[in-house]
Amino acid sequence: MKQEMMEIVNQVELAPRIFEMTLKGELTQEMVTPGQFIHIRVPREDLLLRRPISLAEINHDNQTCKIIYRVEGDGTRAFSHCQLGEKLDCLGPLGNGFDISMIEEEDVVYVIGGGIGVPPLYELGRRLKEKGANIYFLNGFASKDVMYYEKEFSELGSLFIATDDGSYGTHGHVGMLIDDVSQKTTKPKAIYACGAPGLLRAVESTFSDHPHVYLSMEERMACGVGACYACVCQSKKDPTVNKKVCDEGPIFKAGEVII
Ligand code: FAD
Ligand code: FES
Repeated sequence: MKQEMMEIVNQVELAPRIFEMTLKGELTQEMVTPGQFIHIRVPREDLLLRRPISLAEINHDNQTCKIIYRVEGDGTRAFSHCQLGEKLDCLGPLGNGFDISMIEEEDVVYVIGGGIGVPPLYELGRRLKEKGANIYFLNGFASKDVMYYEKEFSELGSLFIATDDGSYGTHGHVGMLIDDVSQKTTKPKAIYACGAPGLLRAVESTFSDHPHVYLSMEERMACGVGACYACVCQSKKDPTVNKKVCDEGPIFKAGEVII
C-alpha cells in the first residue's frame, strides 16, 4: 500500500451521474489484484474522510488505472468537478481482491454485478479472460439510461443484462438472469458478485452448496486500512466476531459474513 498524488488524465460522463476517471501514477504498479480499491481524499478541506472506489481497470504499460463512480453526495460530486491535470491524493491498493487462483482454461465462470457494483468486475473479467475462462457476465441496472460498459464486457465474454424497468434486456433484477444462464452452461467453477446486499444474498442462497462463491461487500469506511473498525460486518459462524470490510474484505466467501 502506498500514497500518491495521481494525475487525472481523463474523465468522461458515461451516463447521468456516472463518471469514468483515468488516473496516472507509479501507484499503478502496486495494483495487481482485481477487486481491490483505492481510498481517495476529496479535494475539499471540509471533507476529511477519504472515499473508497474500486479499481475498474489497471494498465501497467502506461501506468494508469480507471475508476467508475456514481455521484452520491459531496465527495463524489467533488470528484466529478475535477479537471484534467489535477492530482488526487490516493491511498492503495486496499482490500484483499478476488481469488481467481483456481480458475483454469475453459472453466465456466459467472460474474454477477448490479448498478455501481459493476466496475470492479471489469478488471476481474480481463484477468479471467487472460486465463482463458468462459465468462458469463450478468449485469443489472435500474434502466437503460444508467447502463455502461456494454461493449467492453461483451468483448470479454457472454453478456446478459437485466433492467429493473424493462427498458433494456430482461425485465427485472439481475437475480432473474441466473436461472436463464444456468440452463445454457455447465456448472460454473466459480461465481463472483458485487452489488447491493439483496443481490449478494440472492447469489449466496442460489449457490449455497458451491465451494467458490465470492461476494464483494460494501460498508461505509473511515481509515480504510483496518485501524478504526468503522467498516465492520459480522461473521456468520459467530456473530460476536467482527470482520473489517476494508482489510479482511471487501471480498468474502459466501457464508463467511452476515450480509
Ligand atoms: P456521502 O455524502 O458520503 O453519501 C451519500 C449517500 O451515499 C448517503 O446516503 C450514504 O449513506 C451513501 N453511501 C456513502 N458511502 C456508502 C457506502 N460505502 N456504501 C453504501 N452507501 C454509501 N462507488 C462507486 O460509485 N464506484 C465504485 O467503484 C465504488 N467502489 C467502492 C468500493 C468499496 C470497497 C466501498 C466500501 C465503496 C465503494 N463505492 C463505490 C461507494 C462509494 O465509496 C460511496 O458512494 C462514496 O464514498 C460516497 O461518498 P459521497 O461523499 O459522494 O457521498
Ligand atoms: Fe477503518 Fe475499516 S475503515 S477499519
